This record gives sequence, structure tokens and C-alpha cells, in this order.
Amino acid sequence: MHNAAFAALGLNWRYLAFEVRPDDLRAAIAGAKAMQFAGLNLTVPHKLLALGMVDALDESAKTWGAVNTIRFEGRDSNSAWLPLREFGVSSRRLRDGQTQLAEPPEGRTPNEIRAHGFNTDADAIVTALREDLKVELRGAKVLLLGAGGAGRTAALKLASENVAELFLVNRTPSKADTVAGEIKKQFPSVRVAVGHPKIAVDLVLNATSLGLKSGDPSPLAEKQFSLRQARSVYDMIYNPAETALLKAAKAAGCRASNGLGMLLHQGAKAFEIWTGQPAPLDVMRRALEAEVYQSTVHSPQSAVKSSQSVMRSKMKG
Ligand code: ATR
Repeated sequence: MHNAAFAALGLNWRYLAFEVRPDDLRAAIAGAKAMQFAGLNLTVPHKLLALGMVDALDESAKTWGAVNTIRFEGRDSNSAWLPLREFGVSSRRLRDGQTQLAEPPEGRTPNEIRAHGFNTDADAIVTALREDLKVELRGAKVLLLGAGGAGRTAALKLASENVAELFLVNRTPSKADTVAGEIKKQFPSVRVAVGHPKIAVDLVLNATSLGLKSGDPSPLAEKQFSLRQARSVYDMIYNPAETALLKAAKAAGCRASNGLGMLLHQGAKAFEIWTGQPAPLDVMRRALEAEVYQSTVHSPQSAVKSSQSVMRSKMKG
């Protein structure tokens, strides 16, 4: 989706995927910095490890305790940190569709470069829920399945959006207890309980990994909670496009959506952090759909994409 977006905006940038072992993450970030990449995306397990490896943390990374996006920044002559794109020669798109090399404001390589860590995952949950399901989170009652990394972030983000009631269910209940404790401490106005609700809810949100493999059962025990009691169901899983949970949700008459919108919006936010330009959402969505759903063979390239992606700009055109 990023390469499609760069092309749409006439940027001579490339988004590349690299597989990096956790032990090599520090060296990989240092290498990307030395090569003056514009930025990086990180995925599991690098998101947590990178917290201690970047030079500065944005509030988003501090709040959510994970870094999924890095922007490399250089110090200018006034000692201000600017994205590296401000230093290198970049191509600009003109009104007539032609591209032109633009003179950099600084016109030189910065002496010092830092890695600035951001998190774009948490905001993407809320954007996707609004866009795909028209869910209004303020005052909502939500059943959240999963209390791993994604589940914890979703729980805290939903609480920060002032949901009224949050029911947490996890295969390992002690992890749901821990997340419930964090919410009680940080968001005392949100009513939080561990276990299935006895009331109807506005949203069921799956943040477990159950459903990723074909043949996986639904993560929701229907004996404990009937989907007829839910207005909307969101599954963070986007591949397969329809999990057992989503199939059951549609059969029960719920609004239902898979997690492609979350993937799109975390990417769109990262794109804006790197380029300073609004993300072309339609272009990115179409590219994602083509990549995820229309490739019939699972190519080695798409396997690499699921591990770690790196974006670099071609600094010298
Ligand atoms: P992520 O970062 O994607 O959230 P994770 O932290 O490993 O990954 O969390 C995976 C989540 O899926 C957890 O909630 C996990 O439940 P446990 O905490 O009990 O491990 C849940 N999960 C994974 N496999 C599952 C299964 N077969 N049945 C139910 N829940 C499962």
C-alpha cells in the first residue's frame, strides 16, 4: 500500500521488507539510520523491543508502550530536529503531473541523526471501528476478546475513548485480570469486568489470534454469549477475510467487519509521519485489497512482508 501511495503522490520513495532477528534489531535500526532511510515500520516482536532502542519517543509510543513506526530526523543549523526528507533532494509533483527535483532547504547531510519512535496502531483501531462499523465508542458497551499485546492496547484505547462498559475475556483469565486492573487505575470512570456480559453490547471486538488459520473455531463461546446480543462485530484478523466469528456475526444479523481497515489506517498514519503529506487512502485501500485478497499464491515476498517492513527514500533521486 505504501508503494502505491508513493506512486500516486509522485514520490520517488520505496517501501521494502526485511526480515530481522530480534537480536539484530538494534543493528538494523542503526543501519537504517546510517543509510538515511526516511523511516521504518516494525512488527511483532520488534514493537516492544524498539521502545528502548530509539533516541526519542513520541507521546503515542509512550502511551501505548510500543513502537510500530520510526522516523529518522536530522538536526538543522538551528538545532531543531527535522524529518530527513527536509535535507535530501526529493522529487515534487507539479500541477501538470510532472515531477521535478526540489532543492532541499538545508542542502546538506545533517551531522546528527536520531530515530524518533511513534505508535500508529491504537488510533487505527478507533478510526477503523468508526469507518467500517459506524461504532460510536463514547458510552458504548464492548465485549473484548483477547488480552495479549493487541488486546491490551485495544482495551486501553477503548477506555480512553470513554466506553461505558468493557467486558474482557481471555483464554488465560489472569491476563484479562491484569488488563482490567490497569483500566481501573487509569480510567476509573469505565466499568470493567472480566467475563462474558449478561447484557446486550454495542460491539464485540476480537483481538485474539484465533481465526488466523483456516479451520480455526470462533474465539467466542456462543454458550456464554449469543451474537444476537451484539450490534456489531469487528475482527482484527483480515486474512482470511471472513473468520468463523465474522460468519456467525453475519448469520446473527450483526454489522461485521474484518481488520483490513486497521491495517490501512496504521499504515496511512505512518505514511503521513514519514512524508508530511495526507495519505491517499483510496489508493492504499485498493492496493491492500489486491495484495491481501487477490494474490492466489502465497509468494515468499508476502511472507516477508508479514515480518518486518522498512521504508527508505531514494535520497539522491
Ligand atoms: P498479539 O500481539 O497479536 O495480541 P499475543 O500477545 O500473543 O499476540 O496474544 C494472542 C492472543 O490470542 C491472546 O489473547 C491469546 O490468549 P492467551 O493469553 O490465553 O494466550 C489469544 N489466543 C491465541 N490462541 C488462542 C486460542 N487457541 N484460543 C483462544 N485464545 C487464543
